[in-house]
Amino acid sequence: MSAIEAIGGATADGIRPDWIPAEEYRDPNVPTLERERLWPRVWQMACRESQLQRVGDFANYEILHDSILIVRTGTGPDDIVAFYNVCQHRGRKLVQEYSGNLGARISCRFHGWQYNIRGECVHVPFRADWNGCPGFETASLGLPAVQWGRWGGWIWINQDDKAEPLSRHLGVIPEMLDPFEPQNMRPLWWKTLNAPVNWKVVIEAFNESYHAIPTHNSRIVYSMSSPSKAYGRHGVFWFGPPEFPTRYRNEAGEWVIAQSGGEAIWAAHKVLDDMLFAMTLEPTMEATRRLRAEAPPEASAEFLMNRLWELQKDEFARRGLKWPQALTMDAVEKAGVSWHIFPNSIVLPTVDGALWYRFRPHKSDPDRCSVDIWSFGRFPEGQEPTVVNEIFDGFEAFRGQNPFLEEDLPNIQAANEGMKIRGWKGARTNPVQEVAVNNFHRHLSEFLSRR
Ligand code: FES
Ligand SMILES: [Fe+2]
Repeated sequence: MSAIEAIGGATADGIRPDWIPAEEYRDPNVPTLERERLWPRVWQMACRESQLQRVGDFANYEILHDSILIVRTGTGPDDIVAFYNVCQHRGRKLVQEYSGNLGARISCRFHGWQYNIRGECVHVPFRADWNGCPGFETASLGLPAVQWGRWGGWIWINQDDKAEPLSRHLGVIPEMLDPFEPQNMRPLWWKTLNAPVNWKVVIEAFNESYHAIPTHNSRIVYSMSSPSKAYGRHGVFWFGPPEFPTRYRNEAGEWVIAQSGGEAIWAAHKVLDDMLFAMTLEPTMEATRRLRAEAPPEASAEFLMNRLWELQKDEFARRGLKWPQALTMDAVEKAGVSWHIFPNSIVLPTVDGALWYRFRPHKSDPDRCSVDIWSFGRFPEGQEPTVVNEIFDGFEAFRGQNPFLEEDLPNIQAANEGMKIRGWKGARTNPVQEVAVNNFHRHLSEFLSRR
């Protein structure tokens, strides 16, 4: 069976495992279809549950023209509500901020209607003026509810009352990622990049590692293939075995060849530590330093991986960090490297934490989107940093923020331009290493064709 047969045949829209027609990107109807048939019907990560600590705390999740408040209403774990952020009188958006505390009530600044933190209307000035008007009961004046769910430390929302439960949407994701205990991670930083490209172009650039060898080559020569696989709507890629010897730039900036497996492992992590500021954080960086110093040059790959695992556990213990109980070497291997959670989230979990992305289209311009990027780490209880969301408008403004991701940006910009050139007929997706990209389009196309 060929790679193509293994994945499946063509869809009605002509998407094959090795082919996405250019119309999927260029058809001017696509943004409207996405607006009507995808976003209001699909589960999306709205905020971290840890943003909702105290009664009245809220997060404002905005998607296209919609704005949804997620609010803690009590001290019980499920005392959370989600409702639309719009006054039922004349439609003033109620809360402009992205997070904060609502206090006891939400008061509309326009004419003074008031809502409690559960979204119920509790005060209408001159209410008697409506006497005898139809449908003016208190119950129908509340802020319309949006359904919510939780997984992975996130509160998820779905604007479709008839949507399947979150657990069914997530499919295999919790089984694969729960061993990392994402719910216990906390952000080390959170940057939002407002990018001048279509949301699909940017998500796809992060949904495969086929590009890594020619793109991420300033500090290390990557050599491995990155096979990928679809799981229902979602997709994953992982790394095949690296080819040795590893070439990398040493601290003096010279290209050198790693003299041992320990040095090669250290060098690969050092690139992330120096340039990405995510995935490899202090505990693993220190563990690889120790591995490099102590492992004999002839040590086998198996010996090195087992020893690194012990050193990582030791670094966790030294720092008072709790090791996730179900996190085993097998669980890490089974999980792979990078998960695309349909439609707009990508997560790369590691022992130390995770790199997590969320992509949202701009409300009116298909050639703009916003990319939230979180680096998650693990912290002893009470020592989690307070993180402020930093927002950057455009690639220029993002310069200097993250050298690793900045290597991707010129490609993303040029692909967004190139896909519009008549001479491009479609994406010849790699049937081994770009399965997750292709699968995303299959399922997107399915959503867009549903009435
Ligand atoms: S629009 Fe809110 S009170 Fe009038
Ligand atoms: Fe990249």
